[in-house]
Amino acid sequence: MRIEPVPALEGHVAVPGDKSISHRAVLLGAIAEGDTRISGFGRSADTEATLEAVRALGAQVEEHDVDTVTVSGVGLRGLAAPAAPIACGNAGTLMRLLSGMLAGQRGRFELVGDESLSARPMERVAEPLRRMGAGVTTSNGHAPIVVEGGPLRGISYELPMPSAQVKSAVLLAGILADGETTVVEPLPTRDHTERLLEQAGADVRRRPTSVSVRPARRLVLGSVEIPGDFSAAAPLLVAAATVPGSQLTVHGVGLNPRRTGLLDVLEHMGARIAVYNRRPIGGEPAGDVEVRSSELVGASVSAAQVPALVDELPLLALAACHARGDTVVRGASELRVKETDRIEAVAEELRRVGAHIRATRDGFRIRGVPARLRGGIFDARGDHRLAMLGAVVGLSSREGVELHGAEAVEASFPGFFDVLGQLTGVTWGSG
Ligand code: S3P
Repeated sequence: MRIEPVPALEGHVAVPGDKSISHRAVLLGAIAEGDTRISGFGRSADTEATLEAVRALGAQVEEHDVDTVTVSGVGLRGLAAPAAPIACGNAGTLMRLLSGMLAGQRGRFELVGDESLSARPMERVAEPLRRMGAGVTTSNGHAPIVVEGGPLRGISYELPMPSAQVKSAVLLAGILADGETTVVEPLPTRDHTERLLEQAGADVRRRPTSVSVRPARRLVLGSVEIPGDFSAAAPLLVAAATVPGSQLTVHGVGLNPRRTGLLDVLEHMGARIAVYNRRPIGGEPAGDVEVRSSELVGASVSAAQVPALVDELPLLALAACHARGDTVVRGASELRVKETDRIEAVAEELRRVGAHIRATRDGFRIRGVPARLRGGIFDARGDHRLAMLGAVVGLSSREGVELHGAEAVEASFPGFFDVLGQLTGVTWGSG
């Protein structure tokens, strides 16, 4: 797909419902009592895999429209082992959280993923689940994963890396275990699982660096409203921050402080950001975010800041290319085990379009120049976050971008190019 430079981005848009919360609402809905009506569901290839997974496990799902679904729960231990493997597609959140939930069910479950998901580390969930008493095997640390569910015991588990997916897998097994389960976090990660579990009536105890759950007797969600996905808003916000003359507002977007590290770093770099109408949506902080273009300066991002912007670091790297001065990102080695190795991929692809960026072991070093990048070929490498990054590079470049693999946006934001069209007045077609 060809992405031409634009003079500016302007307007008001909404983005799909949060992907992390959508996965969780469907998964918890499947083991809740009665119906869970989910509005603002973020429909994408990843979350559709979750709908199919819970269907395969015996929960009924009714799809009222694109973003409203009802999941009929089968109760805490009511999931049934299907004959065929459960296809998790590209969705790491689905594979890891579902492993935790299945550990406490009766039966043998096999989880498979696509090529990219099958290359990602899975021992990180298998290991704590085994300690709880489940039989879990991986294939040399990777998918396919086989979970032999059964009675579990609560454990206290110190996460070896900051990961909301691993934390959530242990907590979801924990509500099905005997006794208390505690997860200690090296750094705070997104807490959507904790919030939804609390909403469903589970006994959750939160401390600054750890969280405990006790065995649940029943979960009842009833209805869940999902705010817009901050990670889907992020490419639009970075485009507006870097293309001179831009001004845009994303409405109804989730602003959980464990997700919005990008706003903090961008503000520090001199971005003009305002948040209006702060309000809770479905038990999560949310609001309308306005960004206007401005001159940026380089920043330094440390390990402690990484979890709150882990999925936005590729976009932050692009903002840094446009900033005056140097930017250093450290403590982000987790980027190497995302849908692609996002440290190498981001550095290589941004260099190809004219940026001064170097990969380090655990992040980036960037020499910013307050001018448009040249542009050229940008390969998304099958990674949705890279596809959106490449599109923003195209808009903010001098010569535009030939974006290879643009369809990867389907994983999290199928309407991405339509929303870009609304903000730029350009219709994007493949070609
Ligand atoms: C997610 C957690 C993060 C994030 C991913 C979604 C979640 O992964 O990168 O996109 O929904 O819990 P890790 O748990 O591997 O850090």
